Amino acid sequence: MSNDIPESQAVCHPITRSAIFIVAKVESGSAHADTVRGWCADIAALVRAVGMRAPAANLSCVCGFGSDAWDRLFGPPRPASLHPFREIRSGARHAVATPGDILMHIRADHMDLCFELAAQMLERLGGAVSVVDEVHGFRYFDLRDIVGFVDGTENPAGREAVDFTTISVEDPAFAGGSYVIVQKYLHDMAAWNALSVEQQERIIGRKKLSDIELDASVKPSSSHSSLTTIEENGEEVKILRHNMAFGRPGAGEFGTYFIGYARTPSPIEQMLENMFIGRPPGNYDRLLDYSRAVTGGLFFIPSASLLEALADRDPASAAPGADPQPAGTAPDEARGDGTLNIGSLKGTSQHE
Ligand code: HEM
Repeated sequence: MSNDIPESQAVCHPITRSAIFIVAKVESGSAHADTVRGWCADIAALVRAVGMRAPAANLSCVCGFGSDAWDRLFGPPRPASLHPFREIRSGARHAVATPGDILMHIRADHMDLCFELAAQMLERLGGAVSVVDEVHGFRYFDLRDIVGFVDGTENPAGREAVDFTTISVEDPAFAGGSYVIVQKYLHDMAAWNALSVEQQERIIGRKKLSDIELDASVKPSSSHSSLTTIEENGEEVKILRHNMAFGRPGAGEFGTYFIGYARTPSPIEQMLENMFIGRPPGNYDRLLDYSRAVTGGLFFIPSASLLEALADRDPASAAPGADPQPAGTAPDEARGDGTLNIGSLKGTSQHE
């Protein structure tokens, strides 16, 4: 990746102990759209102000926009691979698509910082948005999710994480940006806990206590880690996940908030197809016999500088014929789907 890529938002920041995920709808009306655009320029200052009160707590925030919201708030040009979340139905399994214009992914090692930043962000947005989903997530013991397994082990790190999550030459006007898919899952813990540890390990594909990957000779091709391992031209394509546990034991609610970042939505969509439909079809992810997706959304994450600049966008004056592309970049049609073929995962090889 070249050095002139604009700086990303805090996509690759390290995993933290706490997080708040907010999905909000932008109310109709131009005054509300103005408020949201103005907020885009204030986000970095709000994160700095709250974060400085406890610098060791690693506060960060990533903000993204859904496909319809992008057109309404900012007009053309639009990110090449931005589209609404594609729902999947297969047997009893359903990856639902749910409404959402804005995503805020707030992370810190202490929940008070996440809470304060969420409150400040929403105060700044006022009546311009209504929150449709808010999840307060935590890491469970040694970075486990609520089903008891260490979550995040196979994440790319360092330079690799940046390369797998940051748009580059494939969509120059949006370089430095990313795509993210979020899904809120609820688990049937009574049924999950009724399984033996060995059965659970075969579903995930790793040892529960030690987190060591099961040997290829015993790991089922339907295991979660097998179905979410995908290749393109013999190279593994990774995504960056920062899942968090959440729940309300008193209400019988036990959940995993899935959040996956990538430089195009396609690898995440391919993983979802493998999980819900199966690879080959029918060989689906048994984790879904114990987990139900109740939300699903896809958002574009602008680079840090584009996020700030969005405050000055006027969708009314950005007519499609008004040469919205920066000099030297190809028009939408010439960019194809903007995936650098990373996402054309037809014929992905079984990797187990
Ligand atoms: C019910 C929700 C989910 C739970 C509880 C869960 C849990 C886990 C666990 C425990 C692992 C093994 C450790 C690790 O490498 O992180 C894992 C791996 C992984 N998961 Fe999930 N996951 C969930 C949903 C998803 C979804 C929806 C996707 C993608 C669309 C996904 C993609 C991955 C990937 C790419 C890996 C690494 C595979 C490898 O390289 O071995 N997960 N997940």
